[in-house]
Amino acid sequence: MKKILLVTVVTAAGFLVAISALAKQTDPAENGPRVIRIDELQQRRPAVPFDHFKHASIHGYNIKCTTCHHKSKGTDVETTCSDCHKSRREGRRLSLKGAFHKRCVGCHVMYNNKMHKQVAPHRCEDCHKKTKTVKK
Ligand code: HEC
Ligand code: HEC
Ligand code: HEC
Ligand code: HEC
Repeated sequence: MKKILLVTVVTAAGFLVAISALAKQTDPAENGPRVIRIDELQQRRPAVPFDHFKHASIHGYNIKCTTCHHKSKGTDVETTCSDCHKSRREGRRLSLKGAFHKRCVGCHVMYNNKMHKQVAPHRCEDCHKKTKTVKK
């Protein structure tokens, strides 16, 4: 009797470990940063706090990596936006500011329209917060 119980417990424990390992593995957001500050420009507007994990996680907004990292393959991200999107003076069609605004604000406005509610930040101060408090 005791032996059977022990086997059951051990099997159940092993199963749980396997499940949690799988859950961790299958959230691709684990391959990216958590909360970051986008602060490469920051000349006229304050840096933008960005919850990378929440945007990408299957338990969050579940946005595909390639929606933002549009030149990457799958979850294989090795470049930042600024590797390609430079300042307008460097002759790129889309500046770094333009790339962020088009991607970030573009999705938020679309989402708000769809939800008929202003939930995703779209006003300047929503993203460019004056206070320097960044939630970690
Ligand atoms: C909503 C947009 C968005 C989504 C979705 C997204 N990312 Fe990102 N990611 C960013 C931004 C913005 C940065 C910061 C890049 C910069 O500053 O140029 C970044 C940075 C990164 C970095 C750091 C790159 C470096 O060299 O510093 C990695 C790694 C990364 N993301 C991986 C991922 C993976 C993996 C996924 C999918 C599971 C993902 N990202 C989904 C927007 C996104
Ligand atoms: C390997 C180079 C490269 C990287 C990295 C890159 N881009 Fe781009 N992106 C381009 C090119 C090339 C275009 C085509 C238009 C142009 O020449 O500017 C473009 C176009 C865009 C466009 C306009 C077209 C569209 O799809 O709506 C947006 C928005 C954009 N990028 C956002 C981003 C963001 C945000 C990041 C980082 C998460 C990023 N890009 C990373 C090269 C890159
Ligand atoms: C493909 C869609 C999409 C893209 C691209 C996107 N977001 Fe979001 N974002 C959302 C959604 C959906 C929400 C949550 C709205 C809600 O609360 O229901 C959100 C919420 C936010 C919030 C509010 C706090 C939070 O994290 O919930 C901030 C800040 C934010 N996004 C910044 C950004 C920035 C900066 C970028 C570009 C680097 C970006 N987002 C790109 C869809 C997107
Ligand atoms: C969804 C978030 C979001 C919203 C809303 C938004 N921005 Fe931005 N903006 C960004 C991000 C991300 C950057 C890149 C920040 C950096 O790298 O320092 C940026 C960069 C900029 C820059 C260039 C950086 C600088 O300081 O010179 C300016 C100017 C700017 N935004 C103005 C505005 C104005 C004006 C509005 C309102 C009409 C606005 N933004 C709304 C996310 C947003």
